[in-house]
Amino acid sequence: MSLQGKKIILGITGGIAAYKMNYLVRDFIKAGADVRVIMTHSATDFISPLTLSTLSKNKVYTDFYDDHKTWNNHVELALWADLILMAPCTANTLAKMAYGLCDNFLMAVYMSAKCPVIIAPAMDLDMYVHPAVAKNLRTLEEFGHQIIPAEVGELASGLVGQGRLAELETIFRTVEDQFSKHTSAFTGKRFLITAGPTYENIDPVRFIGNHSSGKMGFDLAKEAARRGAEVILISGPSSQQADHPNIKIYRVTSAQEMFDEVFKYYQDSDVAIMSAAVADYTPKVKATEKIKKDESELSIELIKNKDILRIMGEQKTHQFLVGFALETQNEETNAKAKLVKKNLDMIVLNSLRDEGAGFANATNKVTIFTRTEERSFSLKSKEEVARDILDFVAEKL
Ligand code: PMT
Repeated sequence: MSLQGKKIILGITGGIAAYKMNYLVRDFIKAGADVRVIMTHSATDFISPLTLSTLSKNKVYTDFYDDHKTWNNHVELALWADLILMAPCTANTLAKMAYGLCDNFLMAVYMSAKCPVIIAPAMDLDMYVHPAVAKNLRTLEEFGHQIIPAEVGELASGLVGQGRLAELETIFRTVEDQFSKHTSAFTGKRFLITAGPTYENIDPVRFIGNHSSGKMGFDLAKEAARRGAEVILISGPSSQQADHPNIKIYRVTSAQEMFDEVFKYYQDSDVAIMSAAVADYTPKVKATEKIKKDESELSIELIKNKDILRIMGEQKTHQFLVGFALETQNEETNAKAKLVKKNLDMIVLNSLRDEGAGFANATNKVTIFTRTEERSFSLKSKEEVARDILDFVAEKL
């Protein structure tokens, strides 16, 4: 059975399409899933919790407390889930999700969850094209959620247009795809991923660094772990967190420390992805005391750091080696040259000339090159970029 053992939370909100959820729950159960239904109060006007409880073989949640005033633990439920499906999702709940408005049990579970989220919106056609709804959908995509677009057809209002809940078959297939993508390709594979900047000390107070936040690398690590990989994540200074049982994080400061840590794990890795922005140079002498500002000019002699990726390329045995290229000019030529020079299997180019790409942003725009292929992607959230990159890696493994 395709969804055997998968733990799915179905969040039902108050739209007429809610009545269709009986069939979806039945199909999930038939496919072997463990389904917990959470309804908003207005959803209960459209469909009976008793029917859903009978079909799902589980209690249906609507509140923080049930009839006997026992607490429903939203955090426990959120962490239990492998996937949250919001269907049908009203304009109201979309807005709450986009803005973090936590005024009901469903929202509390959604906001406590770490699993993938799929959203199937449904509403009247003018609401669906309203700029506020379009903006909220974009925001939720940036959060890394998957949207199943509403379909065109006859609506409960009698109008005809886009707004109908996607066909149940489409929703079911999207859920299945999410799981197959997330469990098959990388199960048991060992990933080594680097993230963040490196800091090269000048003296005990100052350093040479760069604007990398670490987000790209952390999103790659989280996505690989979600898909079953065992991930070693080596990060330079970054406030990013990755709380997943499959991820071990080692935090370093300088390029030399990153080099030392990488080569502890490289030989045993199946896939290595170097998204860190490693400093190319380091001060030749690191002052032990704070340098005084007595002189009007100060020169610091720099020496080259080891090129970690290049050495990985030289020592490659069986690993699938992925590099990044952060460019500001002659992007494609430079990226392709790095692919060859560093003996990589694949390189991910991002250019600071593209608005919203590269450092610090929550978004990125990348082109992937292998020796024979090239694939360009639009500007997306870094969560989605991580998915695109790993989909590509999965194709190649
Ligand atoms: O962290 P974020 O704010 O999310 O930003 C993400 C990012 C912009 C840092 C990321 O997408 C990115 O582009 N990372 C690579 C940045 C970089 O150093 O590019 P580069 O073209 O200078 O280096 C090429 C490759 O060699 C990189 O894979 C780099 O990790 C590696 N390298 C570079 C120098 C060095 N001494 N050792 C290395 O291993």
